[in-house]
Amino acid sequence: MKSPKLHQFPFGKERVFKNGWHQEPNSMSDYLDRIGSGFILLNPDPLDFDYIPEVMVGREAIQGTLAGKFHSIAHPNGSANVVITGPVGSGKTLLARTFCRDIEHHLRNKRPLRSVHINCRNATTNVRVAQRIVQSLDPGHPDRGLSMGELLSSLRKLLRNNGRHLIIVLDEVDHLLRKSGNDLIYQLLRIDEDQDGSGTLSLILISQEQVLDVLENAVISRFGHTNHIPVPPYDLKGLIAIVRQRAEAALNSRSWDEDILKLIATSAAPSGDARQVIELLGAAVEHAESDGHKSILSEHVQTKARDVPQVMPEDVLDELSGHSMLVLLGICRRLRKAEFMTSKDVESIYAVVCEEYEVKPRSHTTVWKFLKHIEGLNIIATRVDTVGEGRGRTTHISMPHALPMDVAARIEGRVARKLKR
Ligand SMILES: Nc1ncnc2c1ncn2[C@@H]1O[C@H](COP(=O)(O)OP(=O)(O)OP(=O)(O)O)[C@@H](O)[C@H]1O
Ligand SMILES: [Mg+2]
Repeated sequence: MKSPKLHQFPFGKERVFKNGWHQEPNSMSDYLDRIGSGFILLNPDPLDFDYIPEVMVGREAIQGTLAGKFHSIAHPNGSANVVITGPVGSGKTLLARTFCRDIEHHLRNKRPLRSVHINCRNATTNVRVAQRIVQSLDPGHPDRGLSMGELLSSLRKLLRNNGRHLIIVLDEVDHLLRKSGNDLIYQLLRIDEDQDGSGTLSLILISQEQVLDVLENAVISRFGHTNHIPVPPYDLKGLIAIVRQRAEAALNSRSWDEDILKLIATSAAPSGDARQVIELLGAAVEHAESDGHKSILSEHVQTKARDVPQVMPEDVLDELSGHSMLVLLGICRRLRKAEFMTSKDVESIYAVVCEEYEVKPRSHTTVWKFLKHIEGLNIIATRVDTVGEGRGRTTHISMPHALPMDVAARIEGRVARKLKR
């Protein structure tokens, strides 16, 4: 039996090293070069969910409404109580945090204020929340063994000695209400009743749910129905503005463009959740950097978008007719090279695909119906832009939730069979 020949490489004149490498490795840590290279990521902080940006973008009207509720706060006895509700990622927490930060600064020479922000998901009992409030004013305050009455009386004393107005934000307050009822809130609203002062504290309650319905009448009458601020989910424009702010703060300006931001925002648009655009941007940066790219490409967004809940199930393509598949195949081919295409592009590329499969293209109206059907299945997303002054509207099509080349491959595997039927 012939013994195997070791270290034999059929590479002619190429220099071959004993270890089998064709080129000498430059250094042991070459693979780390892209970390900290500054090609894409300059500062990771703005991609963190807890990062508080200097400016809350696109919420000026709601910020104005909130400020309006606090119109009396500059006066010695002024206070306010507000309930903020809205869906996940609609900016409720950021609204309250930026308001507290800005109002403290704004009134620094008029009325001393301070604020405490408590997330009730981690503090679901009245005593726990009361402890957190007291400790925010006196960090050395004992955190165990005190009753609710003792904590409230400590709070009264601290507020009086401190001479500052306190804004208490109870975030995700539904967790507290569900577990422990509204007794603490009721007590906080009455904090001034047995002493001379008034307006010593303000309350901001935040929840995804309509908490006003859960509160007892005694609390509601003190809050007043008019002090409810509903926050709507973000629309596409709002999401683009948010992701742009993060990209500008975190990334090298040469590493992204407007179309990448639009693609990210389009992917998150069905939920209107700002957290999703920040997460997608972060994931796209990670993909781009690990691929060794100096800028973010649409595929870096789409690879991540496949993991978010709107993912396309394996069998969704089976719902399409043969010609819908051809329309989609055309779309995929174009979107491999561009983030967006127009509906006019769809028709021309569909005609080319029909030629390839030797079938006659369907009419303009039918192609439009196919497009709507494909959109309804969440395979593509469409956005309508008005072009110029009343000169008609253009539909822009993108595929934010999947990689066009994957979808194309899946169609190519089944379209011929479908067309034969
Ligand atoms: N208008 C905005 N400008 C800049 N960043 C925003 C804006 N709205 C939301 N964000 C960011 O999006 C993320 C989600 O916002 P936020 O935490 O305020 O949402 P939420 O309504 O409190 O959500 P949840 O109901 O899950 O608590 C945060 O990182 C926040 O900084
Ligand atoms: Mg929140």
